[in-house]
Amino acid sequence: MTTISLTETEASTSELNGGDRLLDRAVTSSEDAVRVQVQSKAGPVAFACGRDETLLLAGLRQNLTLPYECASGTCGSCRARLDSGEVANCWPDAPGHAKIKPAKGDILMCQTRPLGDCSLRVPASVVEGFPRHECPTHHNGRIERLDRLTSDVLHFDVVLAEPMVFDAGQFVLLRVPGLDGMRAYSMVNYERRTRRLSLVVKRKPGGGFGDWLFERAVAADTIDVFGPLGRATFHPDEGHDLLMVAGGSGIAGMMSILERATNEGHFDVHEGHVFFGVRTIDDCFYLEKFSRYVDRARGKLEVTIALSDAPPQGAAEAAHPGIRFATGMVHDVCGRTMDGRFTDRMMSYLAGPPPMVDGALRTLIGSGKVTPDRIRYDKFG
Ligand SMILES: Cc1cc2nc3c(=O)[nH]c(=O)nc-3n(C[C@H](O)[C@H](O)[C@H](O)COP(=O)(O)OP(=O)(O)OC[C@H]3O[C@@H](n4cnc5c(N)ncnc54)[C@H](O)[C@@H]3O)c2cc1C
Ligand code: FES
Repeated sequence: MTTISLTETEASTSELNGGDRLLDRAVTSSEDAVRVQVQSKAGPVAFACGRDETLLLAGLRQNLTLPYECASGTCGSCRARLDSGEVANCWPDAPGHAKIKPAKGDILMCQTRPLGDCSLRVPASVVEGFPRHECPTHHNGRIERLDRLTSDVLHFDVVLAEPMVFDAGQFVLLRVPGLDGMRAYSMVNYERRTRRLSLVVKRKPGGGFGDWLFERAVAADTIDVFGPLGRATFHPDEGHDLLMVAGGSGIAGMMSILERATNEGHFDVHEGHVFFGVRTIDDCFYLEKFSRYVDRARGKLEVTIALSDAPPQGAAEAAHPGIRFATGMVHDVCGRTMDGRFTDRMMSYLAGPPPMVDGALRTLIGSGKVTPDRIRYDKFG
């Protein structure tokens, strides 16, 4: 942990169209909480932050629309500039630091704790209230089920003490004892209000959470959960056809979208196209679930498994006649299959490792002429 202290701004706050609105929320007088003032493009706001929580999670749980994507130190989207006050950097090696200017006082709000009152400038509009999503908060969770799906993929359920309301495509942050920081995992299931979150984890070699989950976790272990988070969400009332491109565990949020779309009759009217990329057929999971969704959509849903390292095998094709199998990188398979079929009725959802998501973005925007406002994505790293 490193500390940073600033007393003066390095750039004028007039860069921001600050109004004179001050959201004077109940900043507690407890010794544990400090007052954080934020200048944003929408004007000033203030919120209370415990000394043991990050600026991002404190602001989000108080219903402020602070900017973020991964909420876990990799993307740089939660950039703010420290104007005054002292803060602690919880993870100096976070990859997101490469995308900001720490020498100028830039911090990652998701990796910063306050050491006292402080003020920040955030290059975004920060207002009270998420337009479509529930306000996130901390939950106590308990692991209930651990099912190995492949040699390095594990499905598990977390049962919460209180229900969570979430949208299909959202994720939660998990903290386990003995591991620094929190990890992001997308919900696989969908129920608008539920105490059960189903999650799937693809083990990363040497990864802290993966090692804990695969080697030490047992049913009834308790876990700290923060959520719901994420804006790559599906809303049936938007009336879109759906295109989903996922690599590896990126399929998690797509399963949640498929669950909601199927149960609410979305495919009675709209089309769906799913492209799921894995290396070989042995790395593939959820084939039975895909087959059920395809059957229930009665011709309106196409699911294609893209195998990057080995051609499809007859046995999988025979067992799942409703699913297509192809060879190649998932974004290339998507580009080939959808050539001439991209339409402005579609909303596209992408998730998985950053190179896969970048490849899919190039395919959609470059070849498919899809406009960025019709693409929602989560980069898993
Ligand atoms: C929005 C989103 C959704 C995701 N959904 C899924 C999913 O559904 N399934 C899945 O398998 N993966 C998902 N991931 C990836 C997942 O969050 C982890 O990065 C992955 O499981 C590897 O974690 P690990 O602890 O095993 O590896 P590690 O290498 O130990 O940690 C990887 C990640 O943990 C965080 N981290 C590591 N060290 C620290 C530290 N000292 N302090 C703070 N943070 C730290 C960082 O985010 C880092 O990228 C998602 C990622 C994002 C951003
Ligand atoms: S939201 Fe903080 S680095 Fe991604």
